[in-house]
Amino acid sequence: MKILVTGGAGYIGSHTTLALLEAGYEVVVLDNLCNSSDAALHAVEGICGKSALMIRGDVCDRALLDRIFQQHSIDAVLHFAGLKAVGESVRKPLEYYETNVSGSITLCQAMAAAGVFRLVFSSSATVYGEPEQMPIREDFPTGIPTNPYGQSKLIVENVLRDLSQAEPRWSIALLRYFNPIGAHDSGHMGEDPSGIPNNLLPYISQVAVGSLQELSVFGDDYPTADGTGVRDYIHVVDLADGHLKALQAIDGRTGIHTWNLGTGDGYSVMQVLRAFEQACGKPVPFRVMPRRSGDIAESWADASKAEKELGWKATRNLQDMVTDTWRWQSNHPNGYLE
Ligand code: NAD
Ligand code: UD1
Repeated sequence: MKILVTGGAGYIGSHTTLALLEAGYEVVVLDNLCNSSDAALHAVEGICGKSALMIRGDVCDRALLDRIFQQHSIDAVLHFAGLKAVGESVRKPLEYYETNVSGSITLCQAMAAAGVFRLVFSSSATVYGEPEQMPIREDFPTGIPTNPYGQSKLIVENVLRDLSQAEPRWSIALLRYFNPIGAHDSGHMGEDPSGIPNNLLPYISQVAVGSLQELSVFGDDYPTADGTGVRDYIHVVDLADGHLKALQAIDGRTGIHTWNLGTGDGYSVMQVLRAFEQACGKPVPFRVMPRRSGDIAESWADASKAEKELGWKATRNLQDMVTDTWRWQSNHPNGYLE
């Protein structure tokens, strides 16, 4: 079985490409490398001894997509390609809507033209906005995202829902990720953000490795146990496995299906920081700063639907996540560059 993985050189896409190859799938990656390098795919090959076919190009390029579908007998698509920096999306909304929304529409058009109707889409817990209660279930109403990145995820979900209504041949999985962190336990693959990281884990690990001075803890006055924000962190390898399970679950099962991919446990910024300090064996300097605009106090998943319907459950705990992150960061202080 042959899978097209858009954005397959990126953080989650590369870990999923590895999982697919290990499970015996053939993989074609389409990535324009705007936020990644093909070193991630070389690492995949080094780990499993198999390689994906890498095609460098843009998911908005319809002619290229048509060629890919003509030249390869693709059975299904995992669609990771997209831009993901919340702050940047506020400054560059057109780029975000073009890549994330137009790119997804172009991909679906090319898939339909080629007769490929099985799609797994990378959505985000951000579509829930600020729910009134925890844990978050898939049947909670979606919220009103406060930034173009979040909007783009919600728009694509709605486009795919309409598409599935209009064309019952489609089998679509919307996977709402909570907070992916961690790295492959080989220490040779991990998250490699360009520039100063926006997200907690890459920031902490770059402070620990000495590339950044101290972590800013964004607010300690939230209504949580220790006052800092609580999130459902999920190991990227568990997340990758969730994609394989979703891919299998929608085989022969039409319609649109939504699954949360999280652990069901929430941890505060301070808990994550302390766990990381244990993993790296040294203190990580931090300073409490004002809240970051747009942040919510807490967010964690009810992960039972995925367990029941996909037979998938995250198996790696917070200590595994921070230990694997540190192994990657300390082996590769400059990411894939070295
Ligand atoms: P990433 O930036 O590491 O990977 C995205 C990949 O897409 C990169 O390799 C990039 O080069 C590629 N890409 C971007 N624009 C492209 C285009 N126009 N054509 C072809 N390739 C293009 O990000 P990630 O963390 O691996 O995220 C993967 C997906 O999951 C994204 O859609 C993201 O929005 C979604 N997501 C991520 C998180 C997270 O915390 N990392 C959370 C929820 C959802
Ligand atoms: C963020 C995005 C979300 C996106 C997700 C994955 C915002 C508001 N939300 O989620 O849309 O889907 O990333 O890319 O940006 N924190 C600090 N110091 C830091 C960084 C983070 O204290 O330097 C705190 C945050 O306040 C939060 C927690 O750590 O409580 C997690 O933050 P982060 O890793 O950025 O993820 P989210 O904000 O949950």
